[in-house]
Amino acid sequence: MSKKLFTGLKIKNKEIKNRIFVPPMITPFAPQDSGYVVEKTVDSYRRMAQGQNGLIIVEATCVNFHGRLGRRQLGLWEDEQIAGHKQIVEAVQQEGSVVFVQIHHAGVVGIADDALCPSEYTHVKADGSEKIGRPMTAEDIKNVQDAFVSASLRAYQAGYDGIELHGCHNYLICQFLNKKVNQRQDQYGLKRTLFVEEIIARIREKVDDDFIIGIRLGGFEPTLEDAATNAVQLEKAGIDFFDISYGFRREQEVEMPENYPFWDIIYAAEYIKTKVNVPVFAANFIMDPDTAEAILTKAKVDMVGVARGVMVNYDWAKEAQAGLDVGRCLRCAVCMLYSDPEKCPGRILHKRNREKALT
Ligand SMILES: Cc1cc2nc3c(=O)[nH]c(=O)nc-3n(C[C@H](O)[C@H](O)[C@H](O)COP(=O)(O)O)c2cc1C
Ligand code: SF4
Repeated sequence: MSKKLFTGLKIKNKEIKNRIFVPPMITPFAPQDSGYVVEKTVDSYRRMAQGQNGLIIVEATCVNFHGRLGRRQLGLWEDEQIAGHKQIVEAVQQEGSVVFVQIHHAGVVGIADDALCPSEYTHVKADGSEKIGRPMTAEDIKNVQDAFVSASLRAYQAGYDGIELHGCHNYLICQFLNKKVNQRQDQYGLKRTLFVEEIIARIREKVDDDFIIGIRLGGFEPTLEDAATNAVQLEKAGIDFFDISYGFRREQEVEMPENYPFWDIIYAAEYIKTKVNVPVFAANFIMDPDTAEAILTKAKVDMVGVARGVMVNYDWAKEAQAGLDVGRCLRCAVCMLYSDPEKCPGRILHKRNREKALT
């Protein structure tokens, strides 16, 4: 069957060989507090590319030590971290895939005791305890913007084809974009996209025109209409693609028409696609090739993201194109990818089934 899934897509000057992207997923491999890429990190991204997945977005990589979401998180806050990222880039590009890195700061949900937030906000942690974010001063804003720009330029130096700003899932940019979290009275509150617009403009000044700058944007921030307004504004500011995911979760107001054939976040991507001209990606819970194809054709988005599905089976795109069973994520209560991907039961099962099929 001829499928849109296996047709190419051009973003700026980059040809992506199919419509499958691997959304960013943090890995547990870096030594604590170093932020460094290690061999296992490189191997994992190489395997994703060998699996013919067209675009790989490397995991949330922090712009500074203070803004981290975890102690094993990768960083691009110092020049010495560039070499490891170069290895990821070379490994992926050698296999013919395009590679971006996600640039991140956690803000109030980070691990720092005095975590920053656009304005005072009480973050309720998973264990029920509370943390109050420290409202950012004008100086804090400037320093964090500087860190975003410097980290992005290090990504450019490492040879990435582009970057994805992390603008959803509760983190700092998303906190600025959400009116229930950002209650500043200055220009960064009156125009909530300004914080990230200024970052984009400053990166753009320093990179060549082909370098791709996208954003992972909340589809409900807090409403779908707010998210669409953010997208329109950010397209004007020079964003090259939107990767739509969940926004600041506790404040979201999700919506979807009755009898919509997919689920809420796909609807958000479909809706935002009607408001902007640059490519829009959909992700979350896309596990099998038929659903991926249906989302591409019916929701009319440009790319579909397969995250846990690719970790279950690095060869997801290759096997989907060959018409093979790609395996499945079992949606475990605790995902083993955060601690030891080798123990992922979906991966073990798929490997066993593949071996059985070959004997
Ligand atoms: C282990 C793990 C790590 C993740 N890390 C990130 C991340 O670094 N950045 C991000 O935007 N999303 C992250 N996510 C969310 C995924 O990108 C994706 O949106 C989510 O897994 C849903 O897609 P799926 O159903 O295809 O797995 C992570 C998810 C998992 C399971
Ligand atoms: S550990 Fe479970 S939830 Fe995580 S990818 Fe594997 S099968 Fe899916």
